[in-house]
Formats: sequence, structure tokens, C-alpha cells
Amino acid sequence: MIQLFHVCKQYAGDAPALVDVSVSIGKGEFVFLTGRSGAGKSTLMRLVFCAEPATSGQLLVFGRNVAKEKRSRIPHLRRAIGVVFQDFKLLPDRTVAENVAFPLEVRGLASKEVRRRAGGILRSVGLELKADKFPLSLSGGEQQRVAVARALVGDPALLLADEPTGNLDPERTLEVMDLLHAANARGTTVLVATHDRSLLERYKKRVVALERGSVIADGAEIRRAGMV
Ligand SMILES: Nc1ncnc2c1ncn2[C@@H]1O[C@H](COP(=O)(O)OP(=O)(O)O)[C@@H](O)[C@H]1O
Ligand SMILES: [Mg+2]
Repeated sequence: MIQLFHVCKQYAGDAPALVDVSVSIGKGEFVFLTGRSGAGKSTLMRLVFCAEPATSGQLLVFGRNVAKEKRSRIPHLRRAIGVVFQDFKLLPDRTVAENVAFPLEVRGLASKEVRRRAGGILRSVGLELKADKFPLSLSGGEQQRVAVARALVGDPALLLADEPTGNLDPERTLEVMDLLHAANARGTTVLVATHDRSLLERYKKRVVALERGSVIADGAEIRRAGMV
């Protein structure tokens, strides 16, 4: 699903954000990407989302060498990827239902089909009664559930969530994590960046740990080894 081979990312003038990173994530996996602030988590996510190129090394997403893809093919690749961010990134002047429908509208789906799918996914995150509200009238936890619904509405093969619970209290955190978990149970590959150790403890999934841009541990066991 995702393969990085000796990937380096260097922003101009700075220490490298990723150093010789080799990681492989298979179809259907649920993986936590962890490490303290500045470790390179978001950079790795952006590379996988084809938002910026690696400086060196090779990156395959869905088996395709991203650097060699035609630019015109990148939107197509991205359509199979749902993204969730710490700060929700909802459109404030559109209703909850319109936010969730947005990715489908961009794809030119028929409006009846858009409504059907958006309604279904809003029910699955428990927000069907908020469909006509505007995002800023919702709590943070509800806003993030809308963002998760928007990420999942196109039935992506891969979900990238960058500190999705960073702005939420513990209870809302679990609600959002449960949604990511449920998506994974339905077959979506999920990659979650977090520096919240309690999540790693709780969910007992594979953990890839970054430190100053390098992978320092990778596996289900590293929690117990006390490395993160
Ligand atoms: N757009 C950018 N331009 C320059 N430096 C960046 C940029 N994005 C991230 N960095 C640097 O790359 C390193 C890794 O950052 P980041 O991937 O955001 O880490 P994390 O998500 O783990 O906090 C940091 O040193 C950060 O300052
Ligand atoms: Mg980050």
C-alpha cells in the first residue's frame, strides 16, 4: 500500500526532516506514527499524500512510484486517500452535510448519489441531526467527526490522520479513534500520526517511531520496550 525506500526530505537550509526512512505499510494495516514534535511525522504524511516530493529515495503509494507519476495523475491517486488534520479544516461557510458532500461533488457525482452517501456517512459518525448546522456551531469533537466523515465519504483505500485528536479531550479522543478503528475494520488502511502515548497503549497497534527524521523503532512491541 505504502512503501518508502531510503527516503530523505530536506527543507531549504534546515536539518533534514526525514533521514533514510524505509517503511512498508500493507493493505488493511492500522499503524501509528509517533515521535515528538518536529520528528517528521507530518512531513512523512505529506509525502504519502503527494503534497510534496521526497528529496531522495523512493516512495510507492498503491504500488506507484510517486516521483514518476505524471502531474495530471496525482489528483487521481489522491482520491483514494482520505485526510484528517488536527485542526479539522472544515469549510466554515458550508453546512455539515455540504462539507461531507464536498469531495464527492468535486468528483462530479450525481447530486442524488451525493446526498445518499453523505447522509449515510453522517449517520455512521452519529451526526445526522447536525447535517444542516454550520461547523463552528459544533463542539470540537463533533467537528472532528465531520472531518472524519468527509475523509471517508469517498471510501478511500487509505486514511491519513495527522494528530487527529490533538485538540480533543480524552472522551472525544476515543470517539474519533473508534471511527478510525471502524474504518480500518471495514478494510481501509489507516495511518495515524500522534505523540499521545496513551493511544499507543490503548490500541496496541503497530507503532513506527521517528526521532529527528529517522525511524528508531517499528513494531507492535516497542511500547513494552519503553521506546516511545
Ligand atoms: N514547510 C516546511 N519548511 C521548512 N521546514 C519544515 C517544513 N515543514 C516541516 N519542517 C521542518 O521539518 C521538521 C519535521 O517537521 P514535521 O514533519 O512537521 O514534524 P512533526 O509532524 O513530527 O512535528 C521540523 O524540523 C520542521 O521544522
Ligand atoms: Mg506534525
